[in-house]
Amino acid sequence: MSWNRRTHFIIVCLITFLTGLAAASLQAKDQIVLTVLYDNYTATEGIESDWGFSCLIEGMEKVILFDAGAKSDLLFRNAERLNVDLDKVQMIVISHSHFDHAGGIAKILDNNPEVTVYFPASFRKELVDNIAAKSAKPVRVSEPVEIFRGAYLTGEMGYGIKEQSLILDTEEGLVIITGCSHQGIVNILERAKELHQKNIYLVFGGFHLLQHSDEQINEIIQKFKLLGVKKCGATHCTGGQAIGLFEEAYGEDFISIGAGKVLRFSH
Ligand SMILES: [Fe+2]
Ligand SMILES: [Fe+2]
Repeated sequence: MSWNRRTHFIIVCLITFLTGLAAASLQAKDQIVLTVLYDNYTATEGIESDWGFSCLIEGMEKVILFDAGAKSDLLFRNAERLNVDLDKVQMIVISHSHFDHAGGIAKILDNNPEVTVYFPASFRKELVDNIAAKSAKPVRVSEPVEIFRGAYLTGEMGYGIKEQSLILDTEEGLVIITGCSHQGIVNILERAKELHQKNIYLVFGGFHLLQHSDEQINEIIQKFKLLGVKKCGATHCTGGQAIGLFEEAYGEDFISIGAGKVLRFSH
């Protein structure tokens, strides 16, 4: 190879390499990564299960922790084993005041007192006092709100145990994360559609259908289909029978959720 041809070859290789590198970093930057840290089920070997729910959202404008499970120690052990750093959490969204969603918050507030915590307006007073005592910024949520570009809260919903859910706007469609769905899973989906007029790509979390009959669960599944919910990840307090029926109805579009599960989306 002559000197000129060799130089040309090296330059072409270098440009190809740099273009690939830039594309890869752009792709990594544009990816939303959801890591389930706490759940009644496990999806990864070595990750512990326990009654509760927590999911970390990375790759957007802010790092959010949606719910914090029941026990701080278990939450941190799972996070460490999954190589995620809870000290980077900038916002915490607590779906509702039940211990299996709010109990694990204490250690995060100790390590990271600057965090902003969004919780339903009707949250129990002692929990609000705990948050305020740690110098975190408590934010009561009543109405639907955009917490930053592409991340929304449904607002406080329901009559008995009031609850909020998180909606992420991704390239694939809306991704909805639920705590226990005490406000009704179909009500959450309808609220999301009403607010965003976009297709629902995925809903996952607890659906709270433990006391429902097969007939009632199948009616709910029909409503999911009518609302155009593409994929579903029923877990946590949904109940084994209901999880089985969703899995049957959704087939390949059923996403098996458990602690250690990682989901990626574009935005
Ligand atoms: Fe729960
Ligand atoms: Fe609950």
